[in-house]
Amino acid sequence: MSWIALNSRSGVSESFVSLKTIDQKRILPKGSLPINVLDVKDLDRVLNETPELSSRGGKKETLLIEGYYPNKFGLWATHKVYRITYQISDRKERIIAKIMAKECGKKELRLLSDLCKTSNVPKPFHFLYDGQLEEENFFDVKGILFMSYVDNRFHFEEYLRRWCVAELKSLELKNISESIFEIWSAGIKHNDLKGEHLLFTGKEWFIIDFEKSEPFAGKEDVKDELAVLIGDSTVYLDRFMAYNKIDFEGTIKERYETFLDNFLPLFDFDSGDNRYISAFETSIQNEKLKSAYSTLKVM
Ligand SMILES: Nc1ncnc2c1ncn2[C@@H]1O[C@H](COP(=O)(O)OP(=O)(O)O)[C@@H](O)[C@H]1O
Ligand SMILES: [Mg+2]
Repeated sequence: MSWIALNSRSGVSESFVSLKTIDQKRILPKGSLPINVLDVKDLDRVLNETPELSSRGGKKETLLIEGYYPNKFGLWATHKVYRITYQISDRKERIIAKIMAKECGKKELRLLSDLCKTSNVPKPFHFLYDGQLEEENFFDVKGILFMSYVDNRFHFEEYLRRWCVAELKSLELKNISESIFEIWSAGIKHNDLKGEHLLFTGKEWFIIDFEKSEPFAGKEDVKDELAVLIGDSTVYLDRFMAYNKIDFEGTIKERYETFLDNFLPLFDFDSGDNRYISAFETSIQNEKLKSAYSTLKVM
């Protein structure tokens, strides 16, 4: 499970309390914040009193706060992203709260506000920031970006893995390329298009985390983005194979190659070397998988 329960109306969760201190520290927010995002009462207040968050009808009551804490084959990654579930009238809704430095938060809010009109990205609501803390020289002042929760089944890396081990019957890539094209058409290079930034709802693909994005400048950027997306998801497949002691042969190999053969033609992908292809190559341990990924240079 990637989300771990932290706090609710009935108190701090058992799943959080039973974690080792080091893991608890990895999940907890860092820096000086405008509110305590793990506190139910603080969240109730912000959800009901901040115009950008309270606009949609009815009183909101925070039910659960979870931290994003994915375990990838025994390794934990650190994120400061929280999923808040609240009650409103007779239904439950979810919202994401992402802790960010001032400039990053403002940038992501601005980009998502523009993109959400035309593209599959989360809808941003508000960047909550306390300028007073900054003026009073508090240490490491951060804000909280609130955005819509994309109810997803899995990320792209997981999609590729499931395809390769024959857990998926068919490979539906057109949908993914459409979501990526939407971003580029809006003049934006994502610039960190890893597997975990492409979320599948079961119907559509959403793109998230625009902190590193830059203006889109054409063919070289297409190559960068695809090298990162395929490279990062291939490293994930490589770790999966190592963790489960599976070699790159038979079905996995056939299916991985089918994926490359079908995915790249959807884009105007230019062959030749690329700094990201080389960077990911060095992280892939299985030599056969590495050489399959390296065909990106000659395709
Ligand atoms: N709007 C969202 N809807 C659903 N899940 C999200 C959303 N934003 C972030 N997440 C989850 O949190 C993870 C980390 O979020 P991300 O924006 O990439 O932050 P970070 O800067 O920590 O990488 C994502 O991979 C995704 O699983
Ligand atoms: Mg990210």
